[in-house]
Amino acid sequence: MKNTLKIACLVLSLLTSGAYVGAGAQESCPVFDFESKTVTLNSGYEMPILGLGMFSLSNSEAENSTYWALSTGFRLIDTARIYGNEAAVGRGLRRAIDEGIVTREEVFITTKMWTSDFDDGDAAIDASLSRLGVDYIDLMILHHSQPRNDVKAYQAMERAVAAGKLRSIGLSNYYEPEDFDRLVNATSIRPALLQNETHPYHQSGEMKAHIAQYGTVLESWFPLGGRGNTRILFNDPVIASVAQAHGVSSAQVIIRWHLQAGNICIPGSSNKEHIAEDYDVWDFELSKDEMAQIASLERDDRFADY
Ligand SMILES: NC(=O)c1ccc[n+]([C@@H]2O[C@H](COP(=O)([O-])OP(=O)(O)OC[C@H]3O[C@@H](n4cnc5c(N)ncnc54)[C@H](OP(=O)(O)O)[C@@H]3O)[C@@H](O)[C@H]2O)c1
Repeated sequence: MKNTLKIACLVLSLLTSGAYVGAGAQESCPVFDFESKTVTLNSGYEMPILGLGMFSLSNSEAENSTYWALSTGFRLIDTARIYGNEAAVGRGLRRAIDEGIVTREEVFITTKMWTSDFDDGDAAIDASLSRLGVDYIDLMILHHSQPRNDVKAYQAMERAVAAGKLRSIGLSNYYEPEDFDRLVNATSIRPALLQNETHPYHQSGEMKAHIAQYGTVLESWFPLGGRGNTRILFNDPVIASVAQAHGVSSAQVIIRWHLQAGNICIPGSSNKEHIAEDYDVWDFELSKDEMAQIASLERDDRFADY
């Protein structure tokens, strides 16, 4: 089955968090294609299922990491206005394009609109386009739920989709089904993606099952636990023993677990060797039993305090 695995999240939800599969999820749940390493979003666009994250990277780190990631095989880069490194990501992208490593069309760029920009989303979108140095953004997401004006910000993103500035739009940091539905019910375009803190100690099963009815896919931030916390997950006895069994690192086991669980995964790194390691997850497969063992690590425990 290696490299030919197509995984419906209904099946994976059963494997990873069985209680959470909702009626109706089966028809619209996005399917991961391990051959192309992509998923087709509800917007119709294909998105890579593994990318590199830019949180807390300096400008020089973000430029180099983007360039190394694209050179290694990554085709998805995740940044945000609030990270302050969109322009650096754009420089790394252009370096890779100029050297013939990728074309713009082959790369999927995600950025996020920060909450203080929600009242003037049109300007925020134009500013991100300008900093990134691109004429369209593959995916823009609202960085955090903010009931006071997130609908207004989302409607600005909807206008930008119509104008061809954004291809897909989505959300981040919506942790309650009711909060997600509040926004969906007030807007027209179904969110393509929800990016929430997700890792073996906080697997987001309830939200993943809830958003499947909209064809919305889950993306994991802090997939390895986040900078400063990775040792906790890397040294977890279950993860360490699965890693030993496959002759891979704990980071690779966790990334592979995300992908097989139906979570788009965006580990962050400023280290060239780690970036290569994080992309080298296509030649081994976790068994059902190993997936179940990691599913049993769920403890509803977030590393971030927001
Ligand atoms: N929407 C949101 O609110 C939100 C919040 C946080 C993050 N995010 C997004 O999610 C991405 C991922 O989160 P994150 O970067 O904060 O945390 P993370 O990916 O869980 O962990 C990053 C840490 O893992 C280390 N690492 C990566 N690969 C490794 C490997 N193979 N071996 C050992 N260590 C490794 C990195 O160190 P090195 O640099 O030394 O490799 C860094 O310390 C972010 O970059 C960002 O794009 C979004």
